[in-house]
Amino acid sequence: MASEDIRVGVLFSTTGTTAVVERTQRNAVEMAIDEINVRGGVGGRRILAVYDDPASEPRRYREKALRMMEAEGVRIFFGCYMSSSRKALLPVIEENQGLLFYPTLYEGFEFSASCYYGGAAPNQNSIGLARHLMENFGETFYLVGSNYVFPYESNRIIRDFVVSSGGRVLQERYVPMFASDKDIGRIIDEIRKVPPDAIISTIVGDTTAVFYQAFRDAGFDAARMPIGSLTTGEPEVAAMGAEAAVGHITSAPYFDTIDSLENRRFVASYRRRFGAASPISACTEAAYFQVFLFAEAVERAGSTRIDDLRRALPGCSFAAPQGQVTIDADNHHTFLSPRIGQVRADGHFDIVASSRSPVKPDPYLITPLTTDWGSKVAAG
Ligand code: ACM
Repeated sequence: MASEDIRVGVLFSTTGTTAVVERTQRNAVEMAIDEINVRGGVGGRRILAVYDDPASEPRRYREKALRMMEAEGVRIFFGCYMSSSRKALLPVIEENQGLLFYPTLYEGFEFSASCYYGGAAPNQNSIGLARHLMENFGETFYLVGSNYVFPYESNRIIRDFVVSSGGRVLQERYVPMFASDKDIGRIIDEIRKVPPDAIISTIVGDTTAVFYQAFRDAGFDAARMPIGSLTTGEPEVAAMGAEAAVGHITSAPYFDTIDSLENRRFVASYRRRFGAASPISACTEAAYFQVFLFAEAVERAGSTRIDDLRRALPGCSFAAPQGQVTIDADNHHTFLSPRIGQVRADGHFDIVASSRSPVKPDPYLITPLTTDWGSKVAAG
């Protein structure tokens, strides 16, 4: 019966600068909801999604969520890529006793009783990336990011780790969200002058392709001076073309090359539905598994009341494409399996390091920065 449907709002951008990745997150939520509905829904109830496109503009996430709350009575949301969008949206979710499932890596140092964080916290990606680059390429870094909160905060953490490990940050620069060729040209010129052992890029969205292409056109060699990133996943690589990305490195809990039954099934279903060449990244996978974590909480709670869900969500767990994922009762973040990937000639990632087991999220970096999640363990 329609009145028994569980309505959820889905706010990922299919236009604007971060559509390159958010489109895949929207797809993954849609696919997970269909899979759950086909098997009978949750407690016999179908999940019914309401979609809208906030066009990669933070204030529009807030506006569209308010509209969905007022017009459709939605209180449960899946959405956001940029931290600026999450920060614009969360206050209205909190004020209206809603819940946000946020499936994107971010800078950490946040807790909201109304938010469940499915992407990597800094101890699950940044620290592993910096350590991998230091062990394999050298100790001097050039940091470049898009001009907003995630890159600033992420670089603060990376700088802290690099300096406390005996390395040096030679320069830290920010480019506009829609950087011009001239903006990127200045960065390339400076990298040539400096030059560092490795670059860490926290550039997001369409500018990612502009930067990597300019880096390649400048004749830099990824084998000697790679770009390490937290945000350059398979969709961004597909957008720039594999030739511009080959040899560069990304730290993430998921790559589409993971060799497991769950991942083969996930990749095959996604590509059957959205096209044989559709890229899938850690953000896509997190969007997918968060729907299943939500569904488990509804089953456990026997209710979709927000207070009941909040009680049920801690400890919810799912055999995700990356491995087992579990919501940490301490902080609403998720146990994930960090990995390091290096782009191959075909645009997919070789997994060059992998955690031994799911790593507890530590969004406030309370444990020592040198925590070892097993970067030397064989690929998997
Ligand atoms: C991000 O802004 N959390 C990628």
